[in-house]
Amino acid sequence: MKKIKKIWKTKIRVLLPNSVKRLLTKIGNRISPSDIYSTTSRDEFLLHMSKINKKQENSNAAQAWWRKQEDWNPYIIHKEYYNNMKNFINMFFVPHLSNDSVVCDLACACGDFSVLIADKVKQIDAFDLAESMINVAINTAKKKKINNIVFKQADALSIDLETNKYDAFMMLGLLTCIDDPYIIEIVKKVHDSMKDGAKLVLKDGLLINEVNTKYIYNSTNEYSAYYRTYDDYLSIFLNNGFSLLSHSLVESSHIYMFVFEKKRKHERIL
Ligand SMILES: C[S@@+](CC[C@H](N)C(=O)[O-])C[C@H]1O[C@@H](n2cnc3c(N)ncnc32)[C@H](O)[C@@H]1O
Repeated sequence: MKKIKKIWKTKIRVLLPNSVKRLLTKIGNRISPSDIYSTTSRDEFLLHMSKINKKQENSNAAQAWWRKQEDWNPYIIHKEYYNNMKNFINMFFVPHLSNDSVVCDLACACGDFSVLIADKVKQIDAFDLAESMINVAINTAKKKKINNIVFKQADALSIDLETNKYDAFMMLGLLTCIDDPYIIEIVKKVHDSMKDGAKLVLKDGLLINEVNTKYIYNSTNEYSAYYRTYDDYLSIFLNNGFSLLSHSLVESSHIYMFVFEKKRKHERIL
């Protein structure tokens, strides 16, 4: 069975057009039953994960899943949610962009949102952990004759971002994949890479009406994620040099988007 799966993934599936791959993923998600373990205790989660896979560094379960993904698009999950995200970006983020803007898209997946704003800005540096998705993004940009996006495989945990470089920043869905000890490190790095007054658009899966982070693991497809509360998100960003400009629920059950502004020097001292 393992051999057949490998041949399917490495020899057959890779040759299919992206639209067919996306359709197959959608069908697969619908028919495979999901067996989700969830807890509000990080220690319990790590213990659970260590029983499942002793070799893997437990706090990296989400990273391991994403690293293997070949193609991912919010469109697969929900058309309406994708349109809501686009509307939020167009309404609350795009007005802050200009044709001089240098933008970073950290965790760009297949580049859909970089492509969306490419004609409105000067340059985009777009990074993702998954090499295959970066390759999909490069091909999409090539087909669309977009040449102001540099797509590169990189890990947000270890990437060095140039200080004071970006006029605007997109971080859509990254923090849901990142375990607690590394969150502040990433937010500080993003903050330092942005110019004073620069805008950050953020999207993540949030817990509405709950008070604790939820750690989840789906044993059917090995997906795992960290869902935090709205208050957690606010305090992470407000305590690390940002102020809140806009926010909205974009998917009815739990996906939220925010626009934050990097405080200017005189505001940071206050
Ligand atoms: C929920 S998806 C969001 C993708 C896209 N930004 C969007 O909103 O459609 C999360 C993305 O984060 C990427 N990712 C997860 N951990 C990462 C890391 N350590 N460094 C860079 N990217 C990472 C995944 O590969 C995936 O593309």
